[in-house]
Amino acid sequence: MPTLETNRLILRPWEPEDADFAFDLYSRWEVQRFIGNPPRVMTGRAEAEVRIRDWRQMDNPVHAVWVVQLKGSGQLVGNLLLKSIPASGPSLPLQPSGDTEIGWHFHPDHWGHGFATEAAAAALNFAFASGLRRVVAVTAPANAASQKVCIRIGMRHLGRTPRYYNSLCELFEATAPQP
Ligand SMILES: CC(C)(COP(=O)(O)OP(=O)(O)OC[C@H]1O[C@@H](n2cnc3c(N)ncnc32)[C@H](O)[C@@H]1OP(=O)(O)O)[C@@H](O)C(=O)NCCC(=O)NCCS
Repeated sequence: MPTLETNRLILRPWEPEDADFAFDLYSRWEVQRFIGNPPRVMTGRAEAEVRIRDWRQMDNPVHAVWVVQLKGSGQLVGNLLLKSIPASGPSLPLQPSGDTEIGWHFHPDHWGHGFATEAAAAALNFAFASGLRRVVAVTAPANAASQKVCIRIGMRHLGRTPRYYNSLCELFEATAPQP
């Protein structure tokens, strides 16, 4: 998983030492309230350690989960994900849909600076540069902040769909630029 750099940010692979930040991020209701079906917060650091282990073991060369840090201070500010999105269906765990989704989870202390948009644009570029032809994003219908990120990075809104995660989501799509 390569490290990406933007004007203000570094997107790098998660390390075990980042577990305090991951726990701080995912133990907050304002972060988790639109994520998961049903949403739930992390309740212990051990959960964050397991999550980081899983992210580090992703073996698809064009998928990645990056911790986002500020250049200069090194402050950790969020998580940027490019991964397989599960299809809705009866079996648990849900089966892969074959589509790739992009997602963003940022710490509330760092909302409102354009960091999610800057990181997401870099991840989308990486996806297309790696050969993906199409990337989707899904948000809860009420998650206006996330929908704005989708639009800011140039994704198209395709309306609501029950296709993924066994839930009704707003669906956004980006396709690779023509060569
Ligand atoms: C979704 C989420 C990442 C959006 O974070 P965000 O900080 O609002 O998004 P951006 O990085 O695009 O920042 C945009 C905001 O910063 C402002 N901003 C300030 N400086 C900026 C800059 N240099 N460039 C761009 N925007 C800037 C924009 O005006 C905008 O504010 P507004 O929405 O009030 O108009 C954040 O709300 C979050 O982590 N939520 C919890 C997790 C979640 O729900 N994730 C999505 C699941 S689908």
